[in-house]
Amino acid sequence: MRHTADGEAVLAAIRSRRVVRALTDEPVAREDLETVLDAGRWAPTAGNRHLQRFVATDDPTTLRVLRMVSPGMIQRPAAAITVCTDHPRAAEFGFPSDAPGLHVDVGTAAATLLLAAHAIGLGAGPVTSFSRAAVGVVLRLPDGWVPEMIVCLGHPAPGAPAPMRARPRLTWRDLTTWVP
Ligand SMILES: Cc1cc2nc3c(=O)[nH]c(=O)nc-3n(C[C@H](O)[C@H](O)[C@H](O)COP(=O)(O)O)c2cc1C
Repeated sequence: MRHTADGEAVLAAIRSRRVVRALTDEPVAREDLETVLDAGRWAPTAGNRHLQRFVATDDPTTLRVLRMVSPGMIQRPAAAITVCTDHPRAAEFGFPSDAPGLHVDVGTAAATLLLAAHAIGLGAGPVTSFSRAAVGVVLRLPDGWVPEMIVCLGHPAPGAPAPMRARPRLTWRDLTTWVP
């Protein structure tokens, strides 16, 4: 099957994206953060409801405190986007708080944010190991907004070791079962 050049570029970005945890101190331009956030808006959501909220910060003090309550945040990000689920809004649409679609939507949003960051040359990595209660306080989240994943962002540090890869590397064949 023939692919367009744009299609090939998308596939190349999907294949080359890796979690980047070695980041420089250089700030991330607001315009670049907005580009990543705009991409996140286009992630598919259950019923097209858009029940996720993106809480963005590039404030060094806020980022430092976020790290203190996030054991999984190995990197020192220059910016972070916390993907939250707006549970009061979800309830208005009849989603119970444990509806699987709400978690799936966090994943589609995060994957889109990570890919967008990679596409514009930023390093990015997801973090889920954090105190939800503490992150809620640090980010002054409204009642009912639950932080689910923090996407850390920054400029990749030159000369950093290559990110760890799964060995042996899985192929799509390892992950796929065909049915008649
Ligand atoms: C649901 C989820 C939770 C994750 N939590 C963390 C985390 O807390 N800290 C971290 O450094 N990486 C975290 N990661 C990143 C994974 O470790 C990483 O995606 C995986 O090792 C594969 O690396 P790659 O994306 O570069 O291929 C998480 C990824 C996912 C999908």
